[in-house]
Amino acid sequence: MSEPDLVLEEKHGRISVLTLNRPEKRNALNGALRGAFLGALDKAARDTDVRAIIVTGAGDKAFVAGADIAEFEGRTPVDQYRVMKEPSIYEAVERVAKPVIAAVNGYCLGGGMELALACDIRLASTSARFGQPEVNLGIIPGGGGTQRLPRIVGLGAALRLILSGEMIDAQEALRLGLVEVVVPPEELMARASKLAEEIATKSPVAVAAAKEATRAAMSLALSEGLKLETALFQLCFASEDKVEGVRAFLEKRAANFPGR
Ligand code: COA
Repeated sequence: MSEPDLVLEEKHGRISVLTLNRPEKRNALNGALRGAFLGALDKAARDTDVRAIIVTGAGDKAFVAGADIAEFEGRTPVDQYRVMKEPSIYEAVERVAKPVIAAVNGYCLGGGMELALACDIRLASTSARFGQPEVNLGIIPGGGGTQRLPRIVGLGAALRLILSGEMIDAQEALRLGLVEVVVPPEELMARASKLAEEIATKSPVAVAAAKEATRAAMSLALSEGLKLETALFQLCFASEDKVEGVRAFLEKRAANFPGR
């Protein structure tokens, strides 16, 4: 029997759905799964038909329950250094010039939470559980959690979660601003698809530029961020999308963006 795909790739019109598929291990991220995810993400990024990407976990238990802890056993600092020199799934998600929506359907822990944090928008089902339990293992978040979590929920809430390893439910995640929307499990993918579809009707050039400019607010000084915004705003004026968007408005019709 052949091995099942570690990442399931489905295309629904202009939406790519990437499902991390190791449900028997709660979709824990081992090296093979990271590699498969990077490959699938790259494919969706290059596919000009795809205008939004949804990331979720297989099964009804987990989004991603973190790094594969079994791989940590016996690993030396040099091994870990090499692993961390490989392309990062977190940075790949942040860098891709398309919106990435996390549909969090269960345990979202450690590296799984860090994957969700790297996504542009997080939706959760009522069954989602969030946490950074690394301190239980004698380590700290290594996929950007110590940096992205405080930028999203503020320093106090981030320290509470990272220092205690406490697991929180979807309602608490909503209260903290960690997720945008909470829906019953059976509605999660439809809700994520609706949002992705909505974004897919917009100008892909504008959406990519908006993602880059808005994300830059998390790492640049205001003056630098404003300069980047100005440059990207001007770039939009070079696009066919801007010509179409403005013309469609003036002609009182829906825009049909070519994505150029
Ligand atoms: N790494 C490796 N294996 C993992 C894993 C992880 N992060 N999370 C779950 N698994 C494995 C379990 O070892 C178990 O494997 P087995 O069936 O071969 O024994 C299988 O997935 C199912 O896990 P189980 O604990 O039985 O399921 P559960 O639904 O009762 O609990 C969790 C799920 C996620 C709460 C629990 O598995 C857990 O705490 N996982 C570790 C989370 C963590 O610390 N992540 C951060 C890593 S840095």
